[in-house]
Amino acid sequence: MNGGLVNGNTKVLGIVSAKGGVGKTTTVSNIGAAAVTLFKKNTLILDANINTGNIGLALGLTYHPVSINKIIKDPVTIMSSVHKHKCGLHVIPSSLVKEKGKIDTNGLNKKLKKLKSYDLILLDSSPGVEDDAKLAIKASDALLLVLTPDFPTVATAMKTINLAKKLKKPILGVILNKVRGKKYEVSTKELEASFGLPVLASIPYDENIEEAVARRLPVVIHSPKSSSSISFKKLSANLLGKKYIKKSLRMKLAEFFGME
Ligand SMILES: Nc1ncnc2c1ncn2[C@@H]1O[C@H](COP(=O)(O)OP(=O)(O)O)[C@@H](O)[C@H]1O
Ligand SMILES: [Mg+2]
Repeated sequence: MNGGLVNGNTKVLGIVSAKGGVGKTTTVSNIGAAAVTLFKKNTLILDANINTGNIGLALGLTYHPVSINKIIKDPVTIMSSVHKHKCGLHVIPSSLVKEKGKIDTNGLNKKLKKLKSYDLILLDSSPGVEDDAKLAIKASDALLLVLTPDFPTVATAMKTINLAKKLKKPILGVILNKVRGKKYEVSTKELEASFGLPVLASIPYDENIEEAVARRLPVVIHSPKSSSSISFKKLSANLLGKKYIKKSLRMKLAEFFGME
């Protein structure tokens, strides 16, 4: 994967934010689904949200008996914990089994690095900056910070930035989500100037996302032409060092008849 933000050294990406409800889970499932379907990357998403995991619910995969502790400690369980979503994504949902004992927040990165068959591993995370959130940050090679363009959310960004610094994990950039293009919103320019981080994507507020969640699908699969889908596809392309090209009918026909 040349030229992209994700490469041989940076393959485990943590999607983080001190705030809940900003779009972490949505971002994980959509970057993942685009990476698999559009760019043919073997992609795993793991819900590192220990107490309130919901990526399984978002993708219609609810049954998961294996706890994160078992995944970290057991030499074999990780691959047998993988669920295959119909869009091609591999998913380890959070367990409904209560975690026993203290979680080894340092063990997960090593474990994930051993999974050589994946090009990209995305971690969904808990909000906040306590142990729950630290698990995903420590397990990641690099982070994407999800924010919505309102002052209370943007004000929490510093907490995540400081924690990432303390744990020596680079933040590749910000994903600004639920953007409505209103004058009162915090702008990309203001954000970049305040935090010195690039805004890698501006995802519009899009009701198709809510509909997709109700159908247990990533929006890039459910409504591939919607404004948010196109933004997520461009973001995935950028991360993977690929070009997102909206296919014309001619290109689709050529592909169909094997004349690429
Ligand atoms: N760009 C968007 N437009 C409209 N609704 C969105 C958008 N992004 C996320 N949502 C909705 O907002 C809610 C919270 O998103 P979620 O990804 O679960 O946030 P988090 O994981 O940060 O708590 C969900 O109901 C989701 O459908
Ligand atoms: Mg979530």
